[in-house]
Amino acid sequence: MFYRLVSRRISSTHHVGKRFFTTSQTAQAAVPADTMRDNSEIAEDQRYFEVNDKTGIIVTLKDEKGVLNKALGVFDKYGVCLSHIESKPSKFYKKSKAYDFYLDFEGSFDDEPVRNLISDLSKMSKHLTICGTPEVPWFPTNFYDLDKIGKETLSEGDGIQEADHPGFRDEEYKKRRNFITELALKYQMYDKEVPRVEYTDTEVGVWQHCYPKLKKHYVGRAVKEFNESLAQMEKYCGFAEDNIPQLEDISQYLISKTGWRIRPVGGLLSQREFLNGLAFKVFHSTQYIRHHSAPEYTPEPDIIHELMGHAPMFANKHYADLSQMIGLASLGCPDHYLPRLGTLYWFTIEFGLCMEEGERKAYGAGILSSFGELDWCFSQEEKAPKFFPLDCEEIAENHGDFPISSVQPYYFVSESWEDARKKIRDYCDAIPRPFNVFYNEKTQNIEVDRKIKGVYKTCKDNELLF
Ligand SMILES: [Fe+2]
Repeated sequence: MFYRLVSRRISSTHHVGKRFFTTSQTAQAAVPADTMRDNSEIAEDQRYFEVNDKTGIIVTLKDEKGVLNKALGVFDKYGVCLSHIESKPSKFYKKSKAYDFYLDFEGSFDDEPVRNLISDLSKMSKHLTICGTPEVPWFPTNFYDLDKIGKETLSEGDGIQEADHPGFRDEEYKKRRNFITELALKYQMYDKEVPRVEYTDTEVGVWQHCYPKLKKHYVGRAVKEFNESLAQMEKYCGFAEDNIPQLEDISQYLISKTGWRIRPVGGLLSQREFLNGLAFKVFHSTQYIRHHSAPEYTPEPDIIHELMGHAPMFANKHYADLSQMIGLASLGCPDHYLPRLGTLYWFTIEFGLCMEEGERKAYGAGILSSFGELDWCFSQEEKAPKFFPLDCEEIAENHGDFPISSVQPYYFVSESWEDARKKIRDYCDAIPRPFNVFYNEKTQNIEVDRKIKGVYKTCKDNELLF
């Protein structure tokens, strides 16, 4: 699922006139009210975290030969492990040429080795400042934390309008969707498996309409990695014209290929929550399907978008890595960077194209899951879309007003997977945060290199910034 902004609000996924999309966020009007969760259900201890095993100081040292080595030697002397070091000319000792060294290390000021370290450093420095704890937006730091995601949604009326939703006035459809979203809300990360849904004949009929038709559209248009994965998923995951695959089977397959997994979600996630999940190699997916009256259209994410657009690509390391890069960059990032990252996600993971043997091919899920977008994107007619080389800075800064109810007027094309990887990594690395993060594959935890405090913010808080 993905999200995006609508009228200065986070909205949901894409898609579009006679096509559909995905994603997270809002569109409350489309989500039955009784699937909503209130903030009050989130326990107080879920709202904050504080990294207690890191300490930070600023040491001002004279700019003279060997002084830094001498200071670092003190860390060796007391067996204190440095985790981060930065330097810049001192603001307060300009005439005497001094540098401020920002040093983060493991331990607390209550530890004896740290107290001794501070004492020695104070003697050799012009000044020593004990750093406070930067407050950052809360983010999940371990696998269990993902169960705190998806517990709230934006308020009704945001994003997709009632009139846009073919199923909004169908009580039976809403009841069925409630049932499926409840399964997702009950799911916990360490449950044995993602709940299986026994789809009705009507639901399978919608899938049957879309599946073969989309497959025909992929010929000569989708990147080869997509077609290869889809063939494998037909073999191992239950992808077939007459069968809606189960998230559990896809998840198991993806785990074996790239370590990614799919977590069911009951509604539209906030932008921050959705992107945060990607850092853990977790893709949040809806499990319900669009209304049968309009099988080629959905104003919000559904299982056709998730499975036909995203799932095959998550078996590909390139696509999976690009997604995780954006996810890692979203952890605790400043609020005003979220829409930038969302826009970057939009024009790559959702609507990206990549050159393949001299031809443009689609890898974005928003293209691959939409009949209209596939036709438009590869149109040979005079009124065809525009294509630009991938430029992450340009995308993030100047293209946040992309349309969600019509096809994209332009697309960004990477020269290769390596080209996309380098450009996205460079953009993400430049996002200002007072700490660095690392995903530990073995423990499935996020590690940070500095002492920080994560403070939970509701979607509404974020929304105000848009
Ligand atoms: Fe999507």
